[in-house]
Amino acid sequence: RPVLMSGMQPSAESLHIGNYVGALLSWKAMQATHETFFMLADLHAITVPQDPRELRENTRRTVAQYIAAGIDPAQSTLFVQSHVAAHAELAWVLNTITGFGEASRMTQFKDKSAKQGSDGASVGLFTYPILQAGDILLYNAAEVPVGEDQRQHVELTRDLATRFNSRFGDTFVVPEAYILKETAKIYDLQNPSSKMSKSAESHAGVIWMLDEPAVTQKKIMRAVTDADGGIVFDPATKPGVSNLLSIFSVMSGQSIPSLESEFTGRGYGDLKKALAEVVVETLAPMRERALELLADPAELDRILSAAADRANEVADATLATVYERVGFLPRV
Ligand code: TYM
Repeated sequence: RPVLMSGMQPSAESLHIGNYVGALLSWKAMQATHETFFMLADLHAITVPQDPRELRENTRRTVAQYIAAGIDPAQSTLFVQSHVAAHAELAWVLNTITGFGEASRMTQFKDKSAKQGSDGASVGLFTYPILQAGDILLYNAAEVPVGEDQRQHVELTRDLATRFNSRFGDTFVVPEAYILKETAKIYDLQNPSSKMSKSAESHAGVIWMLDEPAVTQKKIMRAVTDADGGIVFDPATKPGVSNLLSIFSVMSGQSIPSLESEFTGRGYGDLKKALAEVVVETLAPMRERALELLADPAELDRILSAAADRANEVADATLATVYERVGFLPRV
């Protein structure tokens, strides 16, 4: 079976529907046909300041949401990045074949470092995409299901894999990003020109998977639209309405043209009400399941520990080959 690898940062109490439709839905759909590694990227999370107690708690909360969203720990390897030492080790080797200018071109670093203010960005934030490349390459992943914002990081991964292979001999599988066009980027409901994000300043336009149903409904009813009135999909001139239609379509399975015709001549209120119903119907059972799982943290830890064994096995084998190829003296 082809290998698939992806991950999320456990940097908030809850995932949001951008994470759900942009990534988790594909993960779930592909776990039957692929060998799958799904990671909690805690090494990545600490590239911006985290409260240690919250990080630990958010890591459990995030894995509970993976499982609640349909990722099956019996089918997929659900593991914590810091449980597999090879991630930090491979990142070091990849650092040495990455150009400074090449790393400087990463747009997510530019955005995130700007938010940290002058001097506030860490070196870890700068090398973040290189650590991510290592995550993917350790498992020989052919495909990486992610949202649009991760495309450039997967491109860098491809470049580094190709470079390493040509310098040291065939070692890495060169992976492809798997990005579904319709759900690649979900926007903030209050600010439909920016993507929905865990680190948004205001939470008013972010639909959290663990929000109570009444809160979800309120946020959708208050979503920003426009003064023009028509319910048509046109992201350039109607970003707010188009975003609502995207979410509606992916969560209901109904195509956008069919939603457009269903809502012809009706108001935004109608659209939002129907959308809120669909979203709550999808999220409410997941929320309940996640809360149930969180009531038994020992069981979550047990799942993560078994997965770490499996992940270490694969990752150590790749790292051993890498160390041999670059000329490190074997420890006898
Ligand atoms: P993270 O935690 O920011 O996001 C997790 C996943 O959710 C997708 N996503 C979105 N998709 C659609 N619309 C949005 N508004 C939206 N916001 C987030 C992201 O594209 C991602 O797929 N660097 C990664 C974590 C990572 C990783 C990896 C991913 C670490 N190592 C190896 C893949 C492979 C990140 O910060 O994702």
